[in-house]
Amino acid sequence: MKKLKIAFNFLIYNIKSTNEHGVHSPFVYDLILGTIYNRNAFYCYHPIERLRKDLMHSKKRLNCTDLGAGSYLQNTRSKSISEIVHAAAKPEKYAQLLFRFVNYFQPATILELGTSLGISAAYMAAANSKSKLITIEGCKDIAAVAKENFIKLELHNIEQVVGNFDDCLPEVLNKIDQLDFAFFDGNHRKLPTINYFEQCLEKAVEGSVFIFDDIYWSDEMKVAWQEIKKNEKVTVTIDLFYFGIVLFRKKQVKEHFVIRF
Ligand SMILES: C[S@@+](CC[C@H](N)C(=O)[O-])C[C@H]1O[C@@H](n2cnc3c(N)ncnc32)[C@H](O)[C@@H]1O
Repeated sequence: MKKLKIAFNFLIYNIKSTNEHGVHSPFVYDLILGTIYNRNAFYCYHPIERLRKDLMHSKKRLNCTDLGAGSYLQNTRSKSISEIVHAAAKPEKYAQLLFRFVNYFQPATILELGTSLGISAAYMAAANSKSKLITIEGCKDIAAVAKENFIKLELHNIEQVVGNFDDCLPEVLNKIDQLDFAFFDGNHRKLPTINYFEQCLEKAVEGSVFIFDDIYWSDEMKVAWQEIKKNEKVTVTIDLFYFGIVLFRKKQVKEHFVIRF
């Protein structure tokens, strides 16, 4: 039933979506060409994808503590690294889009909710070595493997925080002056998503970019995405079906784009 709903939503998305030619805002037009439709191969893609391949072959088992959607109760079970990377890591297409967004906006401070094995964090950190990326993960065994991965990729601009978003996020946000870029990729439920969004909003500034993963994953996430779009501080949003992109630009009229990706 859930798969059917997602397929139906995808059909609607396909009907509604346009490419850059349906966009009148010069800023959004340039953004789409510079990120979403930028087909250049960047230098860091190869080592990160090689690492993903290695992880896909790893039979090593980790004790996974699941604090997010899918388990309303804390639930620990053993999974292989291969299973985790298949189930959790953003696919190449979307992970590389994150790279291009960071490369385009050059944010100084990036926050990720949901490190998992570090694939998306690696892409974002590699896109701007001058940025500081803070990434939060609730499962300590998974976070430990992510740490090894960041060392292998020689990424030195990542700070890992291990703990539940509910506990760690206020502390993390307290330590930063402003949040230039945030990727929300964990605990895909309505209230936690809106709660994390509202906390991060306090540190958003002109030009900040927030990206939400899986905005059609469930009815709850669909409602959360609609509420985020309605927020008065949000001006431009771009719906890519799997990603919902939020831009804070006072000069821009409020407008919601659905772009084919
Ligand atoms: C989809 S995975 C992240 C994938 C990663 N961003 C990537 O693309 O490589 C989501 C992660 O969020 C973590 N998570 C979910 N809910 C959490 C919570 N409430 N606190 C801390 N971590 C949480 C899970 O343990 C999981 O590893």
